[in-house]
Amino acid sequence: MTATALDLSALDAEPLSVHLRAATRTQHEQAEGTSFIGRLMAGRLDVAAYADLAAQHHAIYGALEQAELFVRADVVGATIVFDELPRLAALEADLAVLVGPAWRDEIRTLPATLRYAERLRDVAGTWVGGYVAHAYTRYLGDLSGGLAVKAVLQRSYGVADDAVSFYSFPAIPKPKLFKDEYRARLDALPFDAAERARVAAEAQVAFDLNTAVFSELGAVHL
Ligand code: HEM
Repeated sequence: MTATALDLSALDAEPLSVHLRAATRTQHEQAEGTSFIGRLMAGRLDVAAYADLAAQHHAIYGALEQAELFVRADVVGATIVFDELPRLAALEADLAVLVGPAWRDEIRTLPATLRYAERLRDVAGTWVGGYVAHAYTRYLGDLSGGLAVKAVLQRSYGVADDAVSFYSFPAIPKPKLFKDEYRARLDALPFDAAERARVAAEAQVAFDLNTAVFSELGAVHL
C-alpha cells in the first residue's frame, strides 16, 4: 500500500468529533486570542461590554435555535438535537437584568452578527451537517471555555447570578460527561468522509464568524 492510500484510509476512519477538534484548533486559538476576549478575561472591560456580547449572542442563538426546528424534523438531525442546550430564554432573562426591562429596544446587533445570523439561516437551517458544525462550535464552547468566562464575569465584574444564566446549564450537572455523549452522537452520524470534511469546513467558518463579532466588539469597547 502507498503512503497516500494509508493517509486516505486514516481520514476515512477519523471520527467526526476528532476531525472537528483538529480542523478548528487554529481558529479556536484565533477566537480566544482576540483583543476583546483577552481583555474581557483579564477583567479590563466592563459590564456594558459583556451586555453587548450577550446582545450579539441573542441574535446568534435566535437564528441557531430557529434552525433547530428544521433539524429536529429530520431523522438523522433529530439525533443531534438536545433539549438541555437551548440558550435563548436564558439570554433574554440575562439581558433584562444587564440592560433593563426595555432591553429589546436598547440593544443593537453588529454587522458581523447580522452576517453570522444570515449564515445560520442559510446553512444551519437547510443542511443537517451545517447545523452540526454551528451547534458544535457554540454549545461545546459554552460548555468548555464558557465556564471560565462565567467565573470571570462574577469575580472580576461582579455580575450577579441572575445575569449569567447563559453559562448555566441546569440540566447538565456534569459538562464533561455531557460533552462525551455529544461527541459520541457526532461520531454516530452517518456521514461519509466527504460530508465530514464539509462539516469541518463549516465549523471553521463558524469560528471565523465568532472572531469577526469579537473584532467588532473590540473596536467599540476600548
Ligand atoms: C475565553 C475564551 C475561551 C477559552 C478560555 C476557551 C477554553 C476552552 C477549553 C479549555 C476547551 C477544552 C475543553 C475540553 O477539552 O473539555 C475548549 C473547547 C472548545 N471551545 Fe473554547 N475557549 C474559549 C473561546 C471559545 C470560543 C470563542 C469558541 C467558539 C465560538 C470556542 C469553542 C470551543 C469548542 C467548540 C470546544 C470543544 C473542542 C472539542 O473538544 O472538540 N471556545 N475551549
